[in-house]
Amino acid sequence: MSGKRVVITGVPGVGKTTVIEESMKRCAEENVLYTAVNFGSFMFETAKAEGFVQDRDEMRNLGRDVQKNLQRLAGERIGAMEGNIIVDTHASVKTPAGYLPGLPEWVLTAIKPDTVVLVETDEDQILMRRMGDETRRRDAEGGRGIADHQGINRAFAASYAMMTGCTVQIVRNENFLLEHAVEAMVQVLR
Ligand code: AP5
Repeated sequence: MSGKRVVITGVPGVGKTTVIEESMKRCAEENVLYTAVNFGSFMFETAKAEGFVQDRDEMRNLGRDVQKNLQRLAGERIGAMEGNIIVDTHASVKTPAGYLPGLPEWVLTAIKPDTVVLVETDEDQILMRRMGDETRRRDAEGGRGIADHQGINRAFAASYAMMTGCTVQIVRNENFLLEHAVEAMVQVLR
């Protein structure tokens, strides 16, 4: 294994994929090259092939053990990759049985992150972004629930740092200030 591993997390709709895409373009201009992988897509490939789901938004409602197994397989595949890797994923996933850690011990051991980034913004902005995205089936949730989830994610990220020694960075992705988020993310990736 070589290269840097940066795990980028945030509640659904906070804009982590947008920030990743723009940050990778900026890094490429400086010849700092990363491969970005979406953890959920790796899980979904297996879940769909096994006939568990038809849609990626169904995965968080699967049984806990099924989700854990999908996580383990995704973690092992990503852990075997070489070079600088960005992992687009979740510090925690809101399931009917409670918050599921996105990076349980066996996934952390496989991926060995150097840094875990939490992309955050105000809950009302996230709510509006979710409502504006008709391509996804988001769970119905109010601003209070989104704020709670962002708080839980910080707690989970702290435990990931304690387990691995990785750093934790918070990147704010506020409306009309994407460039600020990209600048903060590029500093992590350099
Ligand atoms: P995933 O693929 O990560 O989907 P998601 O959480 O729904 O996230 P999105 O990619 O849709 O949203 P985003 O936050 O990246 O926002 P975007 O950039 O699109 O996960 C799918 C599923 O996989 C999960 O539900 C779970 O089941 C499973 N999974 C994944 N990882 C797992 C793990 N580790 N363990 C267990 N399960 C796991 O932006 C959203 C909108 O905001 C866009 O319209 C965009 O234009 C806008 N926007 C972005 N930035 C700004 C800005 N600064 N100002 C204004 N608008 C902005």
